[in-house]
Amino acid sequence: MFNKIWKHKEQSNFSIEYTKENILQQPVPEHVAIIMDGNGRWAKKRALPRAAGHYEGMQVVRKITRFANELGIKVLTLYAFSTENWKRPKSEVDYLMKLPEQFLTTFLPELIEENVTVRVIGDCNQLPEHTQTAVKKAVEDTKHNTGLILNFALNYGSRAEITHAVKEIAKQVQQGHLSAEQIDEEVVASYLMTRNLKDPDLLIRTSGEIRLSNFMLWQLAYTEFWFTDVLWPDFTEQHLLEAIAEFQKRGRRFGGI
Ligand code: FPP
Repeated sequence: MFNKIWKHKEQSNFSIEYTKENILQQPVPEHVAIIMDGNGRWAKKRALPRAAGHYEGMQVVRKITRFANELGIKVLTLYAFSTENWKRPKSEVDYLMKLPEQFLTTFLPELIEENVTVRVIGDCNQLPEHTQTAVKKAVEDTKHNTGLILNFALNYGSRAEITHAVKEIAKQVQQGHLSAEQIDEEVVASYLMTRNLKDPDLLIRTSGEIRLSNFMLWQLAYTEFWFTDVLWPDFTEQHLLEAIAEFQKRGRRFGGI
């Protein structure tokens, strides 16, 4: 046992071994959002094609979803494909577009068994037909589940989301259903794709990049951020516990004192 913990520390630089039991003694974040970054570098380090990193990343999505559900986290939002990711080579985009289908086809029965609800934010209309079909089926088949909400951000960009919301609100004003004075933060939030979700409590970004990359800019206003150098395919349950332990130490004041 000692040996196992020591080895683990050596590999990932932890000074403390967190356990689920410790973490559950204090409130866990209700909504965790993750920018899953570093798949390409993980593959490169192993002289593998980038697709191998994305494939491994998909396995980690399954592992972390299961664990988040066990911890009682209510919403897990995962940035799987951004509006900017279309700029990648076609072969990589094609592969990334196959992953939701592959993930959902492989794991949907387990997700249903674990009472997980699948949801999506982002412009799904621009996704290939086969991706849309898989996503729609998963959303439909899990819509009555009451456990963790697994919320994929697919073809998601925060500026596009806010721009769309502004246009919709402008139309309401133009048609006389809403006055400019009535537009408050609640109204704006109600036109975002996250309208039925509470804002994230904790944002995790892997791979050492310290930026938001057009992710949930409105929703992250008061979120606690946790960055790690760990590449997404190397991300483990222990890293999630570490992020939550750090979250539990932070004093959230939401602008108050
Ligand atoms: C960023 O790493 C990662 C992505 C753009 C894709 C994320 C997708 C997954 C983790 C798998 C998705 C799984 C499902 C179920 C949809 P990068 O490629 O930018 O890595 P790099 O910065 O090291 O090149």
